[in-house]
Amino acid sequence: MTIYRARAFDTPDDPFAGGELRSGDDVGLVVVDGVIVARGEFADVYPDYAEHAVVDLRDGVLIPGLVDTHVHFPQVRAIGALGMPLLEWLDKCALPEECRLASPDYARAVAAEFCNGLVSAGTTTALVFGSHFASAVDALFTEAARLGLRVTSGLVVSDRSLPDDLLTTPQRAYDDAIDLAGRWHGVGRNRYAVTPRFSLSASEPILDACSAVLEATPGAMFTSHVNENRAEVEVVAGLFPDCTDYVDTYDRHGLLKAGAVLAHNVHPTDPELAVLADRGTAVAHCPSSNSALGSGLFPLRRHLGAGVPVALGSDVGAGTGFSVFKEGLQAYFMQRLLDTDGHPLTPTQLLYLATRAGALALGLGDQVGDLSVGKQFDALCLRPPGGTALNVGLRHTTHAEEALGKIFALAGDADVADVWIGGWQLVSGGFVRPALN
Ligand code: GUN
Ligand code: ZN
Repeated sequence: MTIYRARAFDTPDDPFAGGELRSGDDVGLVVVDGVIVARGEFADVYPDYAEHAVVDLRDGVLIPGLVDTHVHFPQVRAIGALGMPLLEWLDKCALPEECRLASPDYARAVAAEFCNGLVSAGTTTALVFGSHFASAVDALFTEAARLGLRVTSGLVVSDRSLPDDLLTTPQRAYDDAIDLAGRWHGVGRNRYAVTPRFSLSASEPILDACSAVLEATPGAMFTSHVNENRAEVEVVAGLFPDCTDYVDTYDRHGLLKAGAVLAHNVHPTDPELAVLADRGTAVAHCPSSNSALGSGLFPLRRHLGAGVPVALGSDVGAGTGFSVFKEGLQAYFMQRLLDTDGHPLTPTQLLYLATRAGALALGLGDQVGDLSVGKQFDALCLRPPGGTALNVGLRHTTHAEEALGKIFALAGDADVADVWIGGWQLVSGGFVRPALN
C-alpha cells in the first residue's frame, strides 16, 4: 500500500456536458495493488493509513496518465518530414520506412524506441497502428508487455495501392490476425485491434476478412483512417462507387460499432457524422498531423453537435511528436483559427480530451482516465525543471484552471518527471526505469 500526496487535477465529469475540473492542492490517494482504494483531502485520508509509506509529490502536479488514441508504431524514425500532403508523404516517407520493419531486428529496435517515446511523454494507454508485418507486431506487443503499457494494436492490412512488400491477401490477413490475436489479445494489458490501413488500400474482400476477425475476437477493437485529406477522399470515392461516402466503406462491412476509432475525419459530411454517432464510433483528432500535412481544420463543433465521441491522437510520425499535451494545445489553436465555426476549448476540456475521453473511446473508461476510487493508478507527475517558464508559472498560480492552462501551453517530455501504470513506476525523476526483466 502506498499513499500519494499531491496537487492533483482530473476530469471524471465531462466538461463538454457541464462537468468541472476536479482539483485539490493536498489530495491523498491510497493505492493498493495498483488500484486507487481511497481518495480525499490528505489530512482526512491519512489517519486511517498512518503506518503506511507516503510519497509526497507536492513539488509537482499529478494528473491521470495520458491516452493517445492514434499513433503509428513503425513511424518513430519518420517524425519531422515536413512539407508534403498525405499521399506524397506516405509514398516518399512513411511507407519506405514501414517496409524496413520486415526485418525482425529492425522492428525490435523500433518497438523499443516507440514504447520509450510513449512513456517519456506520459502516455500510459494507446491505440497503436501496428505494422504490416506480423513479426513486427509481435515485437511491439512483447515490448509493451515488458513495460506494462496499456497497448491496443494489431496487424495493419492492405491489398492494393501500396508497395508490394506491404500487401497481403484477404485469406492471409485473416489467418495472420487470428494468430496474432490468439497470442496477444487479453494477455497482460495488451488487446487486439483489427486494422485495415485505409479504404484506399483495402478491397471489399479484405474488409470482409477484417469483419470476420472482429467477429471471431470478442473484445477486439477496430481502427483505421477516414476523411483525412481531400485528394484521398476523392480516390476512395472512385474505388467504392457503390458506397454513399467514406464512412460507408467501413460501415457496410459491419466494422463500426462501439470499440471502433477512426482517425482524422477532417472532411466529414453530416450523414457520415450521424452514422458515427449512431454506431458509437469515436474519432481520434490528430491536430499536429493535420497541420503538418496541411490536411485541414478539424470540425470539432460539428462532431460534438452530432454526438460523435472525440479524443486526441498524436499520429506519430505525420504528427510531430509523442506529446499529447502538444496535441491539446494544437487542437486549441486550430479551433481558434476556425473563428466562429470553432469550438473554444478550456484547459479543463483539453485535460478531458487527453485523458478520460481517450479512455472512453478505447472502452477503458471503467479502468483508467481519471483518479477516482476504483481506477487503476495510471498517473504522471509534472515537475518542470527550475527556471523554466512552466516551473515559474506553476509556482505563481494557486488557481487550478490557470495552472492547467500553463501546463497545456508549456509542458513537454522534459517536465514529465514520474509515470505510473497500474501503480508500477516506469519513469522516476525523468528517467525511464530499466524494464521488469
Ligand atoms: N492514412 C493511411 N496511412 C496513413 C498514415 O500512416 N498516416 C496518416 N496520417 N494517414 C494515413
Ligand atoms: Zn494515422
